[in-house]
Amino acid sequence: MSTYHKTIGITGGAGFIGSHVIRLFVNKYPHYRIVNIDALTYAGNLENLKDVDPLPNYIFEHADICNEEQVAHLFSKYPFDGIIHLAAESHVDRSIMDPLAFIRTNVLGTGVLLNACKKSWKAFANKLFYHISTDEVYGSLGETGFFTETTPYDPRSPYSASKASSDHLVMAYHHTYGLPVVLSNCSNNYGSHHFPEKLIPLMINNIIHNKPLPVYGKGENVRDWLWVEDHARAIDIIFHKGRKGEKYNIGGHNEWKNIDLVMLLCAIMDKKLDRAKGSSAKLITYVKDRAGHDLRYAIDAAKLSTELGWQPSLQFEEGLEKTVDWYLQNQDWVLHVTTGAYQQYYTDQYQKR
Ligand code: NAD
Ligand code: DAU
Repeated sequence: MSTYHKTIGITGGAGFIGSHVIRLFVNKYPHYRIVNIDALTYAGNLENLKDVDPLPNYIFEHADICNEEQVAHLFSKYPFDGIIHLAAESHVDRSIMDPLAFIRTNVLGTGVLLNACKKSWKAFANKLFYHISTDEVYGSLGETGFFTETTPYDPRSPYSASKASSDHLVMAYHHTYGLPVVLSNCSNNYGSHHFPEKLIPLMINNIIHNKPLPVYGKGENVRDWLWVEDHARAIDIIFHKGRKGEKYNIGGHNEWKNIDLVMLLCAIMDKKLDRAKGSSAKLITYVKDRAGHDLRYAIDAAKLSTELGWQPSLQFEEGLEKTVDWYLQNQDWVLHVTTGAYQQYYTDQYQKR
């Protein structure tokens, strides 16, 4: 008999958001056993969880969610009470170059997990499949308006189309088989451990190394930025208190045009690096626009705040400064994740166990 009150499988726990969710759950709930299920793709890095790894209620399982056998094995090994599903291919630009990788992991992988829950959970009482999704499923907004939970889906990139498909599968398993599910759609996250292909960490890193700052198109596209730890807190609340079969939008009420955000980062970095005012901004280079680039995303998170009492905690300038400080202090991490050296090191560590 396990001494733990619950066993929760968290997929994609070695990635950016997943590592923050794992850290929160492992520390806040010592009576839960947390199983991190991750294939360690280019985006998955166990170095993100160095502090959590020694804790007795944390377990890492190297597995591909698209592999039915591997997933079935995990469901026979652990009596999962809940699955929090974050594993995905997550970068829009990569989805434009290699859509099939996104269809495989985001659609097939989600299907394999849902099927495993349906097959191995004999009774659905006290079980939960929590799917983590994105605001990009709603498509693109004009100058005004917000996405609500009832906004019709209109995905426009291979990434968002694959996430929309996975959302539909989750809801279909709920309606058809009665699988207990909950789903959330979040805006752009930022913070520590963010892979340096995404806008904010890429710009920070390029400023440090005096490289050009590639702004797509005219830099007028708008994103709604949320501190990643606030997203992790929302996931905790929704996992425990969200109504089954419901979806919740999560956002920062924090819209920024890309160019204004890059200018703000440049100003912060000039100060941090003791460079002359305006010197980082000189690195800004306008480049060819992303194909099918969505103009604006903005989330109405009223349902989550009124029903479950969640609010973002951090002002953007404060969060950006913390993020910049983290990258300045963790240049080794950037080197490891951009060279792939970490994967070999940590795979070796786990094989020795
Ligand atoms: P990420 O790319 O940093 O991490 C993805 C993780 O999934 C990695 O650890 C990777 O190894 C793992 N993974 C990929 N394919 C796998 C497979 N086949 N089997 C097992 N593991 C696999 O992603 P992220 O930015 O942390 O996003 C996590 C989730 O949150 C995704 O579902 C994404 O769609 C969603 N989301 C992200 C954002 C954002 O701003 N980053 C916003 C809203 C929603
Ligand atoms: O909205 C939620 C989504 O946010 C998540 O679902 C995705 O997983 C996550 O990657 C993110 O998608 P975006 O495409 O919005 O994020 P990205 O950081 O790639 O780009 C942010 C904006 O900056 C976007 O308008 C494109 C632009 N951009 C991006 C890069 C990498 C640039 O101008 N230059 C760049 O070099």
